[in-house]
Formats: sequence, structure tokens, C-alpha cells
Amino acid sequence: MTYTENLQHELAGPGSPDVRSDGDQRPERPRDASWDDLRRLFALEPGVVHLNTGTVGVLPHAVEDEYDRVTRQWAGGLVDVYRPTMFTEYRAAIAGSYGVDGDEIVISHNATEAVARVINGLDLHAGDEAVVTTHECYSVLSNLNLVRNRHGLVLKVLTPPSGHRATAEEIVALFEQAITPRTKVFAFSAISLWTGTMMPLRALCQLAQRHGISTVVDGALISGMLEESLRASGADFIACSGSKYQCGPLGSGILYVRNKVFPEYNPLPLPTLWPVISTWYPMIGSPPPRSGTSVESYDIGDYLQSAGSANIARGAALAKACQLWDEIGRDRIERRVMELGDHARERVLDRFGEQAMYSPVTDPGLRSPLIAFNPFREPADHWNVKKISALTDRLAAEHRIWVRWTEFDVPHSPHQHYAARISPHIFNDVEEIDQAVARIAAVAEELA
Ligand SMILES: Cc1ncc(COP(=O)(O)O)c(C=O)c1O
Repeated sequence: MTYTENLQHELAGPGSPDVRSDGDQRPERPRDASWDDLRRLFALEPGVVHLNTGTVGVLPHAVEDEYDRVTRQWAGGLVDVYRPTMFTEYRAAIAGSYGVDGDEIVISHNATEAVARVINGLDLHAGDEAVVTTHECYSVLSNLNLVRNRHGLVLKVLTPPSGHRATAEEIVALFEQAITPRTKVFAFSAISLWTGTMMPLRALCQLAQRHGISTVVDGALISGMLEESLRASGADFIACSGSKYQCGPLGSGILYVRNKVFPEYNPLPLPTLWPVISTWYPMIGSPPPRSGTSVESYDIGDYLQSAGSANIARGAALAKACQLWDEIGRDRIERRVMELGDHARERVLDRFGEQAMYSPVTDPGLRSPLIAFNPFREPADHWNVKKISALTDRLAAEHRIWVRWTEFDVPHSPHQHYAARISPHIFNDVEEIDQAVARIAAVAEELA
């Protein structure tokens, strides 16, 4: 059975309530299938409302099957483990899904490994400066701190505005004010995992370009959510998770490395990157000079990908998840996820009001489908970690609703603030969001 046949079989398979004897209602293609039909493609835990794709998504059955198939295929041993673990075909296929080329893509173990390889591979020296925010993932902050301790990098750490009235202009202005002649790097997430802020990615990359600064983007949350090509952002590096919105296997990530110059997106020369962890970097001598045109001078993806034996099933299953997303339609997925995010934002505002909201609302460019808010009426409870963690624990244990709590700095506040975060995906629906918001309100009342 071909992949598409398999998918059609799953969509309209035996026992499916949508299969009619005349077959007329069968979705011809995933692109035409309803969201209710598509929900059946996922290995959802029965009885659970999973609203935590910002941490990990749900595997489609087809991805699970591909992982098992490829594992079985190689189980008896391999003549050569190293050639397939370059993932050449899978990288080319995934690159196509993300609007780039295979030489610009590396299949990594996760977003953390991808960002660590970049931060540790940049050509940074004592006194060089990096601009970063307190709203980054530990993976970014801990690796930058390592480079500070090891090489004397200077970190300028900003706390961006969050909440209802945050604007892109304020965020861009903060970064601009932090630039000095020694600034070499901007490091920031495309979507903040703590507040759900969609950072002004293109504007920050353009600002960096005007000052000759490299951009390291933590794109853990945008892969599988946004349709736009990775190249179009103008970033030098984007580290993505494979297992969140892309719904690939755990332990998978996608690293985009700019490997040629498309002046319409980023006219700067390619930044030096030392491919730490490599069995492809030459053992004697140096790689060729990097390209200054839209044609690569070598495949930097190979340098980063080739790093000893690897799990082939991981690459195959990630490529399958990307193929499934293409078949459903990445434009369609982005629209649906944003709609569910808008619904969640409205419900949260109705129920808890503007002062509860840590995700931006009034600036449409900063809105993402991740909604972070504090449901407790007492302002001091916004910095009460025990209450917010008790709330998410009880939601999971008593109501089987999965959300997470987050912690982050707020400008001019002496305290860390805490929020509950809802992150819907295409296997969710508005009823689940309404149910979650109502339960959060009830549990918050009980804990107040
Ligand atoms: C913004 C962001 N960056 C990085 C990570 C780490 O991702 P991974 O588990 O793929 O390394 C996360 C995980 O939640 C995240 O939300």
C-alpha cells in the first residue's frame, strides 16, 4: 500500500463512522478531510484533552508505523550504518517541506541539540556581545552562559514586554538599544514558550542585518505550525523541534543553517560556523570557503549531520510527519492552529479578564496559538509557584486535561511570574478548549 493509500485507508477505514456504503463521503485526499476526520490519524490517549503541544505533540499513526517499519528493516544489522545516517533523502524531503534545500537542513536530536551546536560553533571571542532575552528556553541561556564562561562572551539579557498590550515596536526597540559595536549575535525564540509571544522575527532579523549581526533563532515552536519558508525569515540559524507542532518522533529536531546568500532575504556574508561534533569536517586542512552567492560551495548540512552512527528510524519518521503535513496542507494547518489560538485567547479574556493575560492581544503580529495567563484573582498569586503547579497537577490528575505552567520575568517586577499555558493543535477542537478554560476557572476558585 502506498503512503497516500495508507492514509486514505486510515481516514476512511473499516469501522469509521464516516464510511458510507456508496463511498461518496470518503475524503479523497487529506487536504479535503475534515478536522474531525483528521483527528483520527493521531494516537491520542483516550479520554485525555491534550492542550500541551508546546511541550510535545501527538504522534500520527502513520509516523509511528514508519518508525517501527524502518526499525524492523535495519534490525538484522547493516552492511554500512554510516551512509544512511547522513539522511540525505530525508533531509532533502524535509527541506522541501520547509521551503529550503537539503544542504541547509540537519536532522538533529531536538531543538536543544540544534541550538547548542550553533551557539558553541559560532566564531565568538572574549568581549564579543550577544543580545538575548530572559524569555529564552534553558537550552539557549545555558549554552550562551557556557560560551561566556569559556570564551568571555558578554551577554546583554533583556526582559521583553509581555501581556495584553505588548507591541512589536517595543521589542524591536529594546534589541536596537542593546546593540554596540561589539554585538555579534542576536539569540531569541520565534515564539516564547513562557508567554506565547510571537516574536517579530522578520523585523529582528532585518535589524540584525543592518548592523552586520548574526541571528540564532530558537524555532522549537514554529516547525509544523507556520507555513512560511525558513529562509524567508532572513535568519542565519533556526533550531526547530521535530516532536512539538511537527508531531514527529520524540528525539527529533530540524536545524536550518544558511548556506548560501539570497540577498532578498539576507544579504550578509555567511557567518563562520565551526561544526562541532562532526566526522565530516576534514581531518587535515580546511573546508572550502563559504559561498557568497545563491549556489552553495559545499554542503554544511553534511558536516553537521555526519556524527557517527545514528537512529535511522528517527529521520524516516520525521520525514513521514513532514509529508503528512504537506498532504493536509501547511497553509491549512497554520490557519486552523491560529483559529484555535484565537478561540482560546477570547475564552480566557472572557473568563479571567485582561489583567490575567501574559500573551499579547492587541498587536496581532505578536499573537500565537500559545496562550499564557494566570487564573487566580489575587494579584500576589501571579508569583505563587505552588498554586499554579497545584492547578496544572490537579487538571491532569482529576480531569485528564494536559496544560503546563510557565515562569518568566516581567519588566520592573521583583518577582518571577507564573502562568498556565494552553497550546492547541489540529487534533484539538473548540469544545476541548472551552472545557479546559472552565475547569481551570473552577480549580482556581477551589485553590484561591
Ligand atoms: C521555545 C523552546 N525552545 C526549546 C525547547 C526545547 O525543545 P527540545 O525538547 O526539542 O530540545 C522548547 C521546549 O519546550 C521550547 O518551547
